[in-house]
Parts: sequence; C-alpha cells; structure tokens
Amino acid sequence: MDDQLIAKIKADMAYEFARESPPEGFPPFHDISTQRHTSQEFYDLEQEHVWAKSWVIAGRVEDVAEPGDYFQMKDLGVPLIIVRGTDSVIRGFYNTCQHRGAPVVRDERGSARRLRCQYHSWTYEVDGGTLVALPDERDFVNLDWEQRCLPKVRCETFAGFIFVNRDLDAAPLLEWLGDSAEMFAPYQGDQLREIYRESMIIPCNWKITAEAFLEVYHFKHIHSHDGSSSLDNRGAAMGLYPNGHSRMVTPFSSQRRGGLGMDAWDDWKPIDQAPFAMIDGVPDMVSCTSTAVSLFPNAIIPFGAVGFPINFFWPVDKRTTRLDWVYYAPKDWEGDELPAHWAGLRKHYNQIMEEDRMNMAPMQESVDSPAISGFPINYQERRIWHFHEEIDRLIGPDRVPKGLAMDLLLEPYWESPSSV
Ligand code: FES
Ligand SMILES: [Fe+2]
Repeated sequence: MDDQLIAKIKADMAYEFARESPPEGFPPFHDISTQRHTSQEFYDLEQEHVWAKSWVIAGRVEDVAEPGDYFQMKDLGVPLIIVRGTDSVIRGFYNTCQHRGAPVVRDERGSARRLRCQYHSWTYEVDGGTLVALPDERDFVNLDWEQRCLPKVRCETFAGFIFVNRDLDAAPLLEWLGDSAEMFAPYQGDQLREIYRESMIIPCNWKITAEAFLEVYHFKHIHSHDGSSSLDNRGAAMGLYPNGHSRMVTPFSSQRRGGLGMDAWDDWKPIDQAPFAMIDGVPDMVSCTSTAVSLFPNAIIPFGAVGFPINFFWPVDKRTTRLDWVYYAPKDWEGDELPAHWAGLRKHYNQIMEEDRMNMAPMQESVDSPAISGFPINYQERRIWHFHEEIDRLIGPDRVPKGLAMDLLLEPYWESPSSV
C-alpha cells in the first residue's frame, strides 16, 4: 500500500461518487446461472480444477515452530499433513501411508522425528517423506521403496501464512499472489498471531458465502444499526487483480465520519484506537475506510489498523460450506484469555457475520427451487463476476456445462502488474 496506490484508490473513489452510470463501454453482464450453485457436475469440476489447483492458506508458520512439528489439514477434502523438516523447511504431504492408506499421524497436531504409521509401522522421514523402514521386508516381492514415498503437495509461505497447493506444477505462490501481496506489506506478517477463531456450517454452496463478501451493495441494508450504516457503497473503489484476486476500498458514511471527526470521505488521518495497539506503518486510509482484499478462491481479508480477520469458505459438499473467520494481529498479552477490548471487537465482528449469514441458507433454498434461474449482477458487484470468471478459466471454458458458462469479459479491466 504505497503512496501511489493510495492516490489511485482515492481518485477511483472520487470517480465512483461522481459517475451516473457504469463507465462508457463497460460490458453488459448476462445473468450468472444459478446452476453454478446447484449442479453436482459443476461442483465436481470445481473440486478437480479449482480446489486441487489453487493456493489456499493452511495455517501459520508458528503452528510448526520447531523441526518435526506438524499439523493435519483436512479443509480441502483430502488428508494432508504440514510438517517442518529437520532442515527447518515447511513441507506438505498426504497423510496417507503408502502401504494400505492408514494415516501416518493421528493427532491433529504434534511433533515427530519420523512419521510412523500406527497400523504396521511403515516409517517415513520428515524432510522428503521418504520411506525409511518397514517390518518384515522379506514378505514383499520386489517392493520399490522409492515409489512408496509419501505423496507431496506444494507448500510455500508468505507474511507468516503457510499456503498449500495440491498441484505440483502450480506457479510459485508469490507469482500467483502478484500485486495483491502489496496489501499485506504494512503488517510485518511474521509478527501476527491468531487472536481468536470462529466457525460455522452453513447449508449453502460455498460461492454463496464468498459472494456475500465481494460487494458492499448490501451493506447499508443489512448492516445498519440505529438507522445508520458505517459505509457509503457509492464510493467503493475496486481493483481486479489477475488470478481471481481483487481489492475493494469503501469510504465511510457521513454518520461514521462525524463520529471520527473526519471532515470528508477522503479526510484520511490517524484515528486513535486505544486501548488497541496500532500497527506502525498501516496507512491512514485503512483506519478511515473499509479496505479489503480477496484472495481467490476462498479468503476475504478486511484489513484494520490493529490487525485483520480472514474469512475462509471451505466447501463440504455442493450444498454445505464451513465458514471460518480467524483474527490475526500482533499479540501484546500473555495467555489465552482475550482482553476486554478484543472480546468487544470479537462480539462486534461476530454480529456482522451473523447478519451476513442470515441470507445464505434461504438463498440456497431459492436457487434449488424453480423461482430463480440467474443472478443479474450490477457494475458495483463486478468482483463477483471476476471471481466466477476465474473459476471458469481454471475449469477450462470447454469443460463448463452448457448454459452455466461465464462470458470472459473483465480481463481488459484487470490492473496491470506493477512489476511490468
Ligand atoms: S497401512 Fe501403514 S503400515 Fe500398513
Ligand atoms: Fe456483509
């Protein structure tokens, strides 16, 4: 978030406030087929081409602080283990013994010098998943030990977060993040810690949960309290990054500005949030707007001056999603109990999440009924279109079932990479 980006966002907001229609030449959207939220075939294609090929956040580097530390990750619907090797490198493997498939670790997290299957004690080393010992070798005919290593997944880190990707040929994490990474720069990611975690199961397709956080068209209608909303969606400035990521910065409403002593929507200045400890270097824009980034496919991050939550959407099946939200910030207290100001923030954020949740199951009931066949998406909801486009791009437009496909329209509106 350098000065140039902040100036661009400010100019984009001024443009958004002033416009009377979508920009000249902006393409009309067709309806997004609701079968994308109901079809088992489409869900299976997403599993194969999106979830098995995307980088997703698995945890934090401090979750595996010492060599041999590991944790299990089941969020992708396959059993994975993340482990720090004796060389300190963090790697990912399937938690699947190559004898008959039993898990090589059973505890959710722990520490192990070697990964020893508890069924018949086949044993793998932690650095490469190499099979190094097994009982009664004489009883196997022509066993090729090298073929029987633990299968690997890709594992890379950014800002203290561990990302995994099941696709061994995936582009490197930083290349895939592109310029979306710059939004994390002020946070000195290695200093962040998990502050609290919440989770709920929602009976709806995972994209219904994601879409709820990709626009602020809804904001004043479901998140108003005492008749006033904190955001002014008419000024929301958006950036579409390659690879399905996007950014949205939304100005505060006049009511919120009044409470903070801001003279105008762009009167961005330091806002004291004591007793919270402010993070040095977070731009004033973050304190005086809603500044959020979406990392495709399943993380939405509304940044704050004291830290940020990440909302994660994990598909369980085509009609069930686990929605997790985890708050990360530098932690300046000891022990597990949240100080009162953090408990207050948690309660406030949970309230917003509850307001978002309320529509989700009923929306799924509707898309499962004959009552609606497509969503007419508007210009200020274009991040939803961008997100769906990327799903089709990964599936491969030729594979998307007839009638469900997205026209690929928005690439001309992507931000060009700053490194070029
Ligand atoms: S299944 Fe692991 S040793 Fe047999
Ligand atoms: Fe919302």
